[in-house]
Amino acid sequence: MGILIKNGTVVTALDEAILDIRCGDGVIVQIAPDLDAGPGDEVIDASGQFVFPGGLDPHVHMALPFMGTVSLDDYETGGAAGLAGGTTTFIDFCIPGRNDDAMEVLADWREKSKIATADYTYHMAVTCWGEKSDEWLRKAVQEEGITSIKIFLAYKGAFGVEDSEIIGAMKAAAKYGAVVTVHAEHGEMVAELQNRLFGEGKTEPKYHAQSRPSPVEGEATNRVLMIAAHTGATAYIVHMTCSEAVQALAEARERGQICYGETCPQYLLLDDSVYEKPDFDGAAYVMSPPIRPKGHQEVLWNALTSGILQTVGTDHITFSREQKEMGRADFRFIPNGAGGIQDRLSLLWHHGVSPGRLTRQQFVDLTSTRAAKIFHLYPRKGSITVGADADIVVWDPEGSRTISARTHAYQNDENIFEGFQVKGVPSTVVANGHIVYRDGDLRVERGAGRFLARNPAPLTPPVLARSTS
Ligand code: URP
Ligand code: ZN
Ligand code: ZN
Repeated sequence: MGILIKNGTVVTALDEAILDIRCGDGVIVQIAPDLDAGPGDEVIDASGQFVFPGGLDPHVHMALPFMGTVSLDDYETGGAAGLAGGTTTFIDFCIPGRNDDAMEVLADWREKSKIATADYTYHMAVTCWGEKSDEWLRKAVQEEGITSIKIFLAYKGAFGVEDSEIIGAMKAAAKYGAVVTVHAEHGEMVAELQNRLFGEGKTEPKYHAQSRPSPVEGEATNRVLMIAAHTGATAYIVHMTCSEAVQALAEARERGQICYGETCPQYLLLDDSVYEKPDFDGAAYVMSPPIRPKGHQEVLWNALTSGILQTVGTDHITFSREQKEMGRADFRFIPNGAGGIQDRLSLLWHHGVSPGRLTRQQFVDLTSTRAAKIFHLYPRKGSITVGADADIVVWDPEGSRTISARTHAYQNDENIFEGFQVKGVPSTVVANGHIVYRDGDLRVERGAGRFLARNPAPLTPPVLARSTS
């Protein structure tokens, strides 16, 4: 029994056309106009709707031990929330501590991923560069199929690495063909500012933002891109928030460097007035980098429109109000991060496509295709082609939803987009050839999500297979 999606406008990163799509055995088997349903086929009428490749969120954290607690959404609940919003694949970060055996931590990560409801892979974090690190990185890439790594320039004393370690990790990544994802904030500047502010008796959430102003991010982005150029590594800067960072990325691209930038809905849609909320409510928005003052948002939108930035991820990591309370007396102890995997597509559609800032092709590219290409998952993911995984979103441009912690699929009592009304929602989501979401009904299966082993082979040019015979 297969699925036949009929009469929808199929939108890819390149073009769009009214076509039918037949799925069978978990993959797309036929794309053509006017296909007939086979015996037992489930037919989805997508008339008047758009049909996209399933969303790919390149930046999430599931059940991450972090800042003295563990983030709430795990592979089951976080994956389910993604599916409910049209994201069928996510990339988590496997993060060993500085003194851990990275391969042992990877085995643990594999274990905790077994409950996944959606397909996933990892970026392998490098949190120190020692004598075993090169061999761990080789194994991750060549034996485990993990073709991207992560370095943190922030979180000094925890995950953060020194410049000499960045150079070691980037040289090895270049050798093995891995992409280097980077959290770019100057760890020393942050530590100095945090201690200074706290020393002045400034304890509230808004001082989190003041301890990490945009030059902290601009400096680190520029430095790490220069180191990438020096070592030959391909850098992908995660969660970019500000004009200084965008400028550094644009300059790197101008000098011919292959490098990429990601931003997230919270940096596009919120400004730092959120930190003024009373009664510690600003803690929900404590994340790193922080939400920026007005002005930076427009720079980010323009960078998406013009192609300086390539992807929109979420940095999904949920902490409850109770967990955030760990930093009630000292902003340095508020667990950093917020959720977003369920809301990413609707927010970007409503605020990007509907007002004309982004075309539908850019929307698909930013939310799915480009990340699949950068992280070696294309064309299996991020494409509507014969043979690709049957991960498909039927998108109702007239459907609407009010985002709220009362109704979201996250394991969290807060949502930083509380009350946002969005027009443009998934009506049906197909993952691996199964209908996992239909008109508000989420039908996920614990353990159905698969680990996606990747290969760092060079990319082949994109092809839209319009029809098969
Ligand atoms: O505040 C954030 N972003 N928390 C998650 C960890 C990270 O830096 O991505
Ligand atoms: Zn980060
Ligand atoms: Zn993150």
